[in-house]
Amino acid sequence: RKTYRIAVIPGDGIGKETVPEGLRVLDAAARRFGFDLQLAHYDWSCETYRQTGRMMPEDGLDRLRDSDSIFLGAVGWPGVPDHISLWGLLIPIRRGFDQYVNLRPCRLMPGVRTPLAGRGPEDIDFYVVRENTEGEYSSVGGRMFEGTEREFVTQESVFTRQGVDRVLRYAFELAMTRPRRKVTSATKSNGITLTMPYWDERFAAMARNYPEVTTDQYHIDILCAHFVQHPDWFDVVVGSNLFGDILSDLGPAVAGSIGIAPSANINPERRFPSMFEPVHGSAPDIAGKGICNPIGQIWSGAMMLEHLGEKAAADAILGAIEALLAQGGPRTRDMGGQAATVDVGKALAEAVARAG
Ligand code: IPM
Ligand code: MN
Repeated sequence: RKTYRIAVIPGDGIGKETVPEGLRVLDAAARRFGFDLQLAHYDWSCETYRQTGRMMPEDGLDRLRDSDSIFLGAVGWPGVPDHISLWGLLIPIRRGFDQYVNLRPCRLMPGVRTPLAGRGPEDIDFYVVRENTEGEYSSVGGRMFEGTEREFVTQESVFTRQGVDRVLRYAFELAMTRPRRKVTSATKSNGITLTMPYWDERFAAMARNYPEVTTDQYHIDILCAHFVQHPDWFDVVVGSNLFGDILSDLGPAVAGSIGIAPSANINPERRFPSMFEPVHGSAPDIAGKGICNPIGQIWSGAMMLEHLGEKAAADAILGAIEALLAQGGPRTRDMGGQAATVDVGKALAEAVARAG
């Protein structure tokens, strides 16, 4: 019997509510498909910061290092500045474990209402592949002449050849597994004239290795417009850290709800554990009420099982989500329903337990 070691970090806000539902469904999948999950729980959060002055212990990454995967809820809470909470927990894990791909599926599921008139599930089914360790999220720069008239601030974007090539390669390899075999690059080389032309150059070079893959590229501004007006154009969309971040909120929004959107922070070489977390944040406005949507977390769990090699179990979870949404099963307020977080989690766990 296979055993997978999972580090569980609920984090802040609704992460404390979605993670237990994610675990409920993962547990059902483990029983049904015959493997074990050995969970290690970490309460690292803004609460931890208030008590200890750190989001995670100094040796935090070392404690996670031996896990097969990390299952994360959400990070961030009002009163703790983002540069402390996110740069003290989420970002160090992504970087420390070289999770350079952030994979974010955008799919309109049957039974889910899209804000786009006249669009159906066949029109919205693509992946955003986001560069996850460099680019615009850099620590190069700073504030000078603070508090004076000459005050200014800079933050340099960093695009390394290796960093750009490896995420582009991942996008092309992913496209090769999909029927349409298309990769779209998000750029802005008309305005940002040093880094983005370099990105374009590497994209063109990588494309030459994949003659079977159709390519196109758009500047990020018009690309956002096309996500709304022509979501059917897209199959795999690859972007820098910032552009990928923007597109991976917009994509799920056009696909009906950010509340169901999953993500995988992947170290494709498997030298380090990968991390699975919903796209949404800690949602302080609805936290603690038991009304948040757990599907983004549960779908992230499915991505985790797929990464671990438990494809049948992953498919069963995805199938259960599809069936629940298509058949008018319990749904939370963000999707027009009245159900509680636990109702959705329980319904999905039961469906997975019964999966054929
Ligand atoms: C995300 C989030 C994070 C990011 C924030 C919270 C730093 O928006 O995972 O998409 O920008 O990476
Ligand atoms: Mn984001």
